[in-house]
Amino acid sequence: KQQEFSYLYDIHEKANDFYHYYLMSTNNGAEAYDYLIQRQLTKEVLEVFQFGLAPNNSQLLVQYLQKAGFTSEQLVDSGIFYMADSGELIDRFRNRIMIPLRNSRGDVVAFSGRVFQENSEKSAKYLNSPETSIFKKGKLIYNLDNARLPIRNQNKVLIAEGYMDVISLYQAGYENVVASMGTSLSEDQLKQLSKMTNTLIFAFDGDDAGQKATSRAFQTAQGITNAEIKAIQIPNKLDPDEWIKEHGKDSFQQLINQCISQFEFNRDFFKKDYNLNDEYELAQYIEKVIELISQIKSPIEQQLRINDLVNEYHLSEAIITEQVNRARDIRP
Ligand code: UTP
Ligand code: MN
Ligand code: MN
Ligand code: MN
Ligand code: MN
Repeated sequence: KQQEFSYLYDIHEKANDFYHYYLMSTNNGAEAYDYLIQRQLTKEVLEVFQFGLAPNNSQLLVQYLQKAGFTSEQLVDSGIFYMADSGELIDRFRNRIMIPLRNSRGDVVAFSGRVFQENSEKSAKYLNSPETSIFKKGKLIYNLDNARLPIRNQNKVLIAEGYMDVISLYQAGYENVVASMGTSLSEDQLKQLSKMTNTLIFAFDGDDAGQKATSRAFQTAQGITNAEIKAIQIPNKLDPDEWIKEHGKDSFQQLINQCISQFEFNRDFFKKDYNLNDEYELAQYIEKVIELISQIKSPIEQQLRINDLVNEYHLSEAIITEQVNRARDIRP
């Protein structure tokens, strides 16, 4: 720990204990607790991931931390509170299920708070701590502290979008799972993971946002890692958590077994844009596929994809190979 910011780690540790106690051991925690049990989280898992609850009453945590000796300035620095014009300290998180975000050493450095009541749709589903001296959103990888050893042992990491996906996968027996904190993976996150393993498997949501995130993550990874990268395709726009609940964990393992390469992902991603019954559009689609084939690094995979194209559309192998080589040579 950096000495300079030790008070920030201390505030987070104390706040985490407070939120966790409030969820697990008070009457006021019952509704949130029931919500989590409804979502099939077990008590054990709530302990492992140290879920908590931020009270609706804004005074409780401030008083607790002030009694512990922290100054108003330190509390504001933590990002958990902000100062009202009146000079009063206000909790950023109210009436939200609190998920502690830990750095790779396991120190709590931030929180994400989820709404859990029917009538709370107007507010953002998850509210995250602002960036602070100890929390940089693009660098933090959720659950890396728990997943580090399993990732090394299995030489493989599953990368999901959401906290709940990580937890569902953990309950299904996968411990080599992390999440990217929503949206797409940053270069920094990809570099960190590539140092630990040479197989990265994207397991983003099956909806459009998740597909875009997959496409971007493949692009970001180009040139910054030599790891083998695959993506899991989850049907019906579901996320890993939803898929496992609807279809079971064995069925998720099948999705892992069927995971696809960057080339296959891009081919399917672009295919939707073309009407292949129209000869002109078909030709354009094939040109696009040729360009994608020309980007494949492995000569063997490249040859396999040329074969696919030749067989699927009854084309001349010599011509396709020539076009692939040309596409590769004209790239800057
Ligand atoms: P999703 O919208 O896919 O949420 O966002 P989820 O993980 O499936 O959550 P549940 O199952 O509804 O509880 C994926 C991730 O994006 C970030 C969070 O990290 C979330 O886990 N996110 C999402 C936010 O930071 N804020 C939001 O309002 C929504
Ligand atoms: Mn406990
Ligand atoms: Mn999503
Ligand atoms: Mn999701
Ligand atoms: Mn979800």
